[in-house]
Amino acid sequence: MKYFKHLLMLIIITFPILCVPVSALAATESSSSSSSSTNSAQVAENDSLQKIKQKGTLVVGMSADYPPYEFTTKEHGKTKYVGFEVSLVKQFAKDIGVKLVIKNMDFDSLLVALETGKIDVIASGMNITNERKKSVDFSDTYYSGDSYFLINKSDKDKLVSAKSFNGKTVGAQNGTLQSTMISKDMPQANGKGLTKLSSLVIGLQSHKYDGVLMDAATAKAYAANNSNLYAFNSKLPVTAGGIALAFPKGDTSLMNAANQTIKKVNQEDLINKKWIPEASQYMKSYKKQNTVLSYWRYFAKGLGYTLIITIVSVFFGFLLGTIFALMRLSKNKILHSIAVCYIEFLRGTPMMVQIMFVYFGIGAIIQSLPALLAGIIAVSLNSGAYVAEIIRSGIQSIPVGQTEAARSLGMSKNETFRYVVMPQALKNIWPALGNELITLLKDSSLVSVIGVTELMFQTQLVQSATYKGVLPLFITMMIYFVLTFTLSRILLYFEGRMKHAH
Ligand code: ARG
Repeated sequence: MKYFKHLLMLIIITFPILCVPVSALAATESSSSSSSSTNSAQVAENDSLQKIKQKGTLVVGMSADYPPYEFTTKEHGKTKYVGFEVSLVKQFAKDIGVKLVIKNMDFDSLLVALETGKIDVIASGMNITNERKKSVDFSDTYYSGDSYFLINKSDKDKLVSAKSFNGKTVGAQNGTLQSTMISKDMPQANGKGLTKLSSLVIGLQSHKYDGVLMDAATAKAYAANNSNLYAFNSKLPVTAGGIALAFPKGDTSLMNAANQTIKKVNQEDLINKKWIPEASQYMKSYKKQNTVLSYWRYFAKGLGYTLIITIVSVFFGFLLGTIFALMRLSKNKILHSIAVCYIEFLRGTPMMVQIMFVYFGIGAIIQSLPALLAGIIAVSLNSGAYVAEIIRSGIQSIPVGQTEAARSLGMSKNETFRYVVMPQALKNIWPALGNELITLLKDSSLVSVIGVTELMFQTQLVQSATYKGVLPLFITMMIYFVLTFTLSRILLYFEGRMKHAH
């Protein structure tokens, strides 16, 4: 193949970027990353507490999808973290005199985040297990409970024990004790994991799952707040200790401080007497105001970001597209080859892969690269390739006679291009460009995979906050449709005007 050589060249150029370690798939939160270096875990033995005090913040990692342990609620349209473990770490931060920072992440990325120093402690309803003890140190326990099944109330008579799930689909959150229990103790059931518990509960309600295994308190909390759900004890063998905070190995002084807080909390029975009742209060008041439409601010924010990504990417995509189209048409062999490589490569790889590649690839070199910027770069680069082809076809559609005539009238090459070729080409390619614009607007939704809070990402937030799977999607579909429809009308209007001008 003619272009094989160019492609090979490109792969060789990009190879070093591939080799940079993609360190962590950590939180989607765009909060400033903590610059603490906890690599020297052993040395940290005595000064871990002091280090936190110097830093002035305690960064706590949790998967805030686990009422009454930790979950989110809304206050003045903003997300607020609540639950008894939130109260506990608040107390802990207060006791050691630092500010509390909460990082909400997937449960199965917490341990990695702790080991890489992205967070100082895990408070996420985590049971002490021997497996986990190999990589972290646990504080004293402050809570315990069995594992319960959450099921649809309509199945109450059919599903009564772990055995009744034979041949049925049981879910558990990835990385949890419960997901291990399903694979070990329920070999006849079809176990399926997901990262967010809220997605599992949505799946349960739409009967994609027959049951979801989780901690007793959480199952009861869900059942108490949803009259279609029911919770019962799984009676599966208990192999883990109680719930505790997890610290990096060797952070003993910090952990001792935590144990002092825990001791006080246990003595006064604060969790059962004060914090769990508080949490249920939040759940109740939240449930009342928790309609999909009450999340309009989420949609609005998402729409804003979608528009920003689209507008900025259209601009740069067009710019890149023009440059690469000219390069491709150029007589200079090198410029031509670069353009061919670029266009073929970007059209020949999935956009979602490109987005992740830019985010993690460039992100590995420039640590502070914001997801939004990475998304815009990827979308612009991708769009540039398509626009380049559209423009090239437009330029080639103009008969040479036009150029010759313009040149013989004394116009320079540049002038000919700007005043004769480009305006006519633009008219010819207008519909194709419009298509590209609409595609770009829709494809910007792919940027949600790297955590940019655009429309699709926000939709998923609303889904998990309201436990409604379909309605948020429908609303988002309508928003996209109104946008693209308006856009195509506007484009059509200009197309008509141009015909008129002709
Ligand atoms: N207790 C279980 C475990 O240790 C599940 C905890 C899940 N926590 C959460 N915040 N989602 O694996």
